[in-house]
Amino acid sequence: MEIKKNKHVFPNDFLWGASTSAIQVEGAIDVDGRGPSVIDDFRLSDKVCDFSVCCDHYHHLEEDLALMAELGLKSYRFSVSWSRIIPKGNGEINEKGLEFYHQLIDGLIEHGIEPVLTIYHFDYPKGLVEQYGGWSDRRSIEDFVNFCKILFEEYGSKVRYWLTINEQDHVIRIAPRMGLTGKEPNYHQRRYQANHHMCVATAKAIHLLHQMYPESKIGPALSYAPVYPITSKPEDVQAASDATSLMFTYLADLQCFGRYPIRLWKYLKDRNWLPIIEKGDMDLMKQNIPDFIAINYYTSFSAQYDPLIDKNAMGKDNGDIMALNEPGVYKLAKNPNLPLSSYGLAIDPIGLRLSLEELYERYHLPLMITENGLSFKDILEDETVNDDYRIEYYTKHIEAMEDAIETGVELLGYHIWSFMDVTSSHEGFRKRYGLIYVNRDNFDLNDMKRYKKKSFYWYKKLIESNGKNR
Ligand code: BG6
Repeated sequence: MEIKKNKHVFPNDFLWGASTSAIQVEGAIDVDGRGPSVIDDFRLSDKVCDFSVCCDHYHHLEEDLALMAELGLKSYRFSVSWSRIIPKGNGEINEKGLEFYHQLIDGLIEHGIEPVLTIYHFDYPKGLVEQYGGWSDRRSIEDFVNFCKILFEEYGSKVRYWLTINEQDHVIRIAPRMGLTGKEPNYHQRRYQANHHMCVATAKAIHLLHQMYPESKIGPALSYAPVYPITSKPEDVQAASDATSLMFTYLADLQCFGRYPIRLWKYLKDRNWLPIIEKGDMDLMKQNIPDFIAINYYTSFSAQYDPLIDKNAMGKDNGDIMALNEPGVYKLAKNPNLPLSSYGLAIDPIGLRLSLEELYERYHLPLMITENGLSFKDILEDETVNDDYRIEYYTKHIEAMEDAIETGVELLGYHIWSFMDVTSSHEGFRKRYGLIYVNRDNFDLNDMKRYKKKSFYWYKKLIESNGKNR
């Protein structure tokens, strides 16, 4: 549908924001009583730095808040570290951990920045894995809800927007993020059992917040993207549709409709991976749906049919963030119509518009973009980075988002990933996303100095003009 660009669509309270997560910025993993997190053992290649220091945001809080204020952010999306607040995951609370986030939230509010708080972003307390194996055990539900209760009691009067779990679909695909090795007996069934527990825990957390702070809003942060058929052959169209369901909409359906979509159910049944569902779970999920859906959007995907030649191949898993192929269902393919980022991801702003429109149409819930960004091996020159490539990426995605709003999508805000360079999941600081360059390469701690990139100044102007000045 052609969009007529005749009006400025961003509401005055649109949340122009930026995003980070605790494990990727804070560092200070053994400071002030923080307990061990599964992510502490998440080894990156030995050539890049791990998650122990990151940008040392924990010790640079005031400086980073001042930069957020200078940028003019309307909102800042961050996560709290569970094991900084409850070192073992349950039981004793660490006051210093609570205090750190009070300082952060108060600092944001002083600067007129709306805090958007992610409760759990890949940062799972090791204590819970040691006690009962973590998410695949049903006890994980109550521990998550107790953690939420503590957060709501502490910060509920200051935080209006809450995100439950970041990219649950990725968490259950990467064993170390759950504190597992992937070699456990029935590992795949455990993954989907963990997924089920996370859904029940999310519903309970939503229920609790609604009781405690009825005016506040809470929703999941999902990774989301369209999957295009690589050709118009019906087999490929079916494969793309199956891939969309198995990769993305299954989770939104579980959380927003409170039901298992038929394709996921069949997929799990065929592989003997069905989760155990207790009486009352599905009703609880149906009755406690999110107030909004947040999405992290970077790229779109394309798929083709992948015939099942060897039955043994079914159910094999590459352990990657997403299954690149599911024999008998789909195989992801390269879309020849889209340019690639230097890290090989298709750059597709229309995919963002499509995602927003499809999600809004399907669930009728307001949306928020919690991550969108372009990674690059940035070069620091004359105390800045001339990241025109990133500005171009953002401009096109913001245009696509504007088109979706004009179609009728209710969009609460847009958060750039990332506010500053963070430790990226696999590449440490070699792969950068930030509006601010943090002087950290390899294992050298350097001086942690922050440098504003060209995109920082560009975004500042865009925010000041409520999206007009691009
Ligand atoms: C999202 C995560 O999956 O993508 C972030 O929520 C992550 O935590 C981001 O950093 C980019 O991924 P990567 O692997 O390039 O760092």
